[in-house]
Amino acid sequence: MAPPAWIADNIPTLLRPLLLMAIATYHFIMTILEIIFVERQPAKLFDITGLRFKAFARLWTYNGEAMSVEMPGPFDELVSKCQGVVLDIGPGSGELLKRFNAQHISAMYGAEPATPLHPKLIKNAEKAGFGGKYHALICGGEPESLIPALYKSGILGQSGTGGTAESGVFDEICCLRVLCGVPHPQQTIKGLYALLKPGGRMVICEHVVNPWRTEGSMLGRLVQFLYTIIGWPFLMGGCELQRHTPEFLREAGEWEKFDLEYVGPKEAVPFVVGELIKKA
Ligand SMILES: C[S@@+](CC[C@H](N)C(=O)[O-])C[C@H]1O[C@@H](n2cnc3c(N)ncnc32)[C@H](O)[C@@H]1O
Repeated sequence: MAPPAWIADNIPTLLRPLLLMAIATYHFIMTILEIIFVERQPAKLFDITGLRFKAFARLWTYNGEAMSVEMPGPFDELVSKCQGVVLDIGPGSGELLKRFNAQHISAMYGAEPATPLHPKLIKNAEKAGFGGKYHALICGGEPESLIPALYKSGILGQSGTGGTAESGVFDEICCLRVLCGVPHPQQTIKGLYALLKPGGRMVICEHVVNPWRTEGSMLGRLVQFLYTIIGWPFLMGGCELQRHTPEFLREAGEWEKFDLEYVGPKEAVPFVVGELIKKA
């Protein structure tokens, strides 16, 4: 490919995350100003983790809808087939709920730790036709947070940590743009695998480390590294660009079907999208 064509093809996608970082910086500054001048609780600024998550929730509240207009690969087809009792990890403000078919879902549990996103999440669940079938839980996807919250909601008969308190509870588990930010992802994914019924389905739409050794690109991989060192995880609520999520998923347990495809593998934010079926 001639250099100008190569630049036109590659540079915009590689630079797009910079725009998002600029928007995130704006929301970070606005969050600080709100804490000082609106909430008048400057001591909160010393809780750096709390501040980062609050700023990310602000970013998602203002931009989540726009960032959910175009979803990668066969996303719509995969989520529209969800049925039975479903667990959605990190649903955010529920911008994707309208893409599910609420009639096929008997109960949906959304594990969303950011409380500022819950009012919009509940509103979007109602708009998408879930009514009383939607249960918004204030917890993360990691077992130590998720298991007690599921127990409290009544779907688990036993509580405990480690995700093994009770196995095979959900027909389907959705991980949509969330595994990049969960703490200790390997253990978290294993916990989710345990909660899936034998023969149950996991729907995946996650951005991951650039597969530069196979179908990705070295430049995309390098740019991921650069964005990480200039502050992507700090500004984006702990989101990591370089996660080996496909490997973590494969190693979580035995799968009858493991069907993930890369979307935009040469980009700085390549996705894997697909479905996994737990061995019956
Ligand atoms: C990029 S947003 C995606 C939201 C939604 N899944 C979507 O695709 O529209 C990531 C979401 O994960 C949530 N999150 C962050 N840490 C989490 C954790 N440990 N467990 C579950 N969700 C988490 C964030 O609060 C945020 O709502």
